[in-house]
Amino acid sequence: MSPQTAALVRDSWAEIVPMRKRVCADFYHRLFARYPELHPLFKGDIERQTALFVTMLNTVVSALDNPEPVIPLIKTLGARHADYGVEDADYDKFSAVLLDSFADALGERFTPDVRAAWAAVYAELAVTMRRGAEEAVH
Ligand code: HEM
Repeated sequence: MSPQTAALVRDSWAEIVPMRKRVCADFYHRLFARYPELHPLFKGDIERQTALFVTMLNTVVSALDNPEPVIPLIKTLGARHADYGVEDADYDKFSAVLLDSFADALGERFTPDVRAAWAAVYAELAVTMRRGAEEAVH
C-alpha cells in the first residue's frame, strides 16, 4: 500500500464519515436492488449493521500504514462472513456497489485516483477476509 493510496483513502473516508448514515442506507438500497439474492443473508437490524460496518472501516482506514496488527481481526471477520452464507463472488458485487455509493456521495471529489485507491484497499480487505474463511475451514 503506497502512502499516496493510504492518503487518498484516509482523506475521502474523513469526508464520508459525517454522511455515513445516508451513504450506508444508499449502499444497502443499491445492493439489494442490484443483487436481490443477497438480501436474505442480512437477518439483523440494518442500522446496527451499518454502525458495525462503519466501525470496521474506521479500524481498517486507521491501520493503512501499519496493517499487520489488524490482520487477525479481518480474518475472523471473514470466517464469520462464511458463516453468514457470504460466498467468494459476493465480494465483487459488494465492492462495485460500495464504490458507486461513495462516488455518489463525494461527487467530483471522488476522482479516478480516489476510486482506484479504494478499489486497492477493498481488494486487500476481501482477500484477507476470504483467507480467514478458508483457514477457518481447514
Ligand atoms: C469487505 C468488506 C466487508 C466488511 C468490512 C464487512 C463488515 C461487516 C461487519 C463489521 C459486520 C457485523 C458482524 C460481524 O462483525 O461479524 C458484517 C455483517 C455482515 N456482512 Fe459484512 N462486511 C464486508 C463484506 C461483506 C460482503 C461482501 C457481504 C456479502 C453480501 C457481507 C454480508 C454481511 C452479512 C450478511 C452480515 C450479517 C448481517 C446480519 O446478521 O444481519 N459483508 N459485515
